[in-house]
Amino acid sequence: YKILFASSEVHPLIKTGGLADVAGTLPVELAHLGQDVGIILPAYPACKTRLENLTEVACLQIPSAPEPVRILKSQLPEGPNPIWLVDSPEHFDRPGNPYVDENGQDWPDNAARFATFCQAIVAFANHPALGRQPDIIHCNDWQTGLLPPLLTQAKNRPATLFTIHNLSYQGVFPRQQFKALKLPPRWWSPDALEFHHQFSFIKGGLVFADWLTTVSPTYAQEILTPEFGCGLDGVLRRRTERLTGILNGADYQHWDPAHDSFLEKPYNQSCWPHKAFNKLALQRHYGLLEDETIPLLGFVGRLVEQKGIDLILRALPELLSEKIQVVFLGQGDEDYENALRQLASRYPQQMGLSIHYDERLAHGIQAGADIFLMPSRFEPCGLTQLYALRYGTVPIVRCTGGLSDTVVDATEENLRRGRATGFIFTEPTPSRLLATIQRALTLYNQRSLWRQLALTGMEQDFSWQASAKAYLNLYRRLVPS
Ligand code: ADP
Ligand code: GLC
Repeated sequence: YKILFASSEVHPLIKTGGLADVAGTLPVELAHLGQDVGIILPAYPACKTRLENLTEVACLQIPSAPEPVRILKSQLPEGPNPIWLVDSPEHFDRPGNPYVDENGQDWPDNAARFATFCQAIVAFANHPALGRQPDIIHCNDWQTGLLPPLLTQAKNRPATLFTIHNLSYQGVFPRQQFKALKLPPRWWSPDALEFHHQFSFIKGGLVFADWLTTVSPTYAQEILTPEFGCGLDGVLRRRTERLTGILNGADYQHWDPAHDSFLEKPYNQSCWPHKAFNKLALQRHYGLLEDETIPLLGFVGRLVEQKGIDLILRALPELLSEKIQVVFLGQGDEDYENALRQLASRYPQQMGLSIHYDERLAHGIQAGADIFLMPSRFEPCGLTQLYALRYGTVPIVRCTGGLSDTVVDATEENLRRGRATGFIFTEPTPSRLLATIQRALTLYNQRSLWRQLALTGMEQDFSWQASAKAYLNLYRRLVPS
């Protein structure tokens, strides 16, 4: 098949979260399965700097962009896939991240920015520079939500698959923006893009795409309920026949402690004690006491409500009365950032804090920590717990979404059977989190059991191959050859 994979972020060009990891890996795996998969994303400054040999292949007139939009071509740095950048400088050539400015405020013209992205893709899908029209356009999250409706306007169109990476980010804007984009007035309806009198990008994907997927089987069930449906469970329930949960994979090319150039000392199951060198390096990095016997807990992730960071914050004071250390890497909501700063200054001997984006340190924490904290309130898939498992860093997770699909709780029975890989709790309260951490700390002191738990995690295989095959099977259903 010829597939165009549309995403607003792609590792290693631009990344704010797991979507980038997926968009940088799934197309490569599909290419290994013999598919012709190109990636298309906005031309943010970082992409233009990081890609070599960019050539202009098309210049398009787009309804929502006063200036012509250029399409620049290059190749994914570590993959066989062609990559296209939608270059509309007035929309994408700015500092900050893809969605917010340097102060963390949403760009006020996000609707116009991502409408331009979608309109450019629709125009490019039929452009001679792309060769034959793609069979499938694989859309990801709200930023690509206008693609399925826009494509329904064409006579001969590619099939569309829309992957929900996170239903809570919906791209909702005032009606005015809908009008400004001059979209067909019939789409102003609760059966189309209207969502409680506002304009919703994600509904474009959910209502108009030929097929929907999300990133774990459990989340595919959860989003059909009011508790996890973010107001869209009704829309989704009407599409259950065409909604599939496909678990993400982990990119073991980048996330493998045996071949990780970011690490102080690489290790694998057979030289497991070498993990301790990375622990000492992490303690040194944060100026904590360098002692490999003190349990070290780590967190890497966006500092947002989703990640249960408030549970950690409320459990920390009591937790820190014990002989433990904890390190955080993340950025996000200012309130969480400030609360963490306050705690870190109260407990400088026990707590390390980094509020920025740091790929190297993310690897350092995965390798150096003993325990990985991920008490998410909801988690469509989650990749960091998969990385933690591979690094022998035992995850503590809440029983939700992809977390419950990937971690096996250390109950006595699971331990006895050699199946346990982490710790799971259900009720999202600080006291349950605390009790689960205590449970983990008790096991931590039983060294051989702990070692077995960590090694079982390292043996788990969440590689992309199986997931890529599942996507390919879906493409086959959409476009029988
Ligand atoms: P989400 O997509 O909800 O953010 P995932 O677990 O799927 O969660 O993926 C998060 C990805 O982003 C991982 O690759 C993780 O290492 C990375 N990440 C998150 N925050 C940071 C940060 N501050 N610095 C470096 N990497 C980060
Ligand atoms: C989203 C989800 C996360 C998932 C990632 C990649 O950001 O929050 O759970 O792993 O997308 O699909």
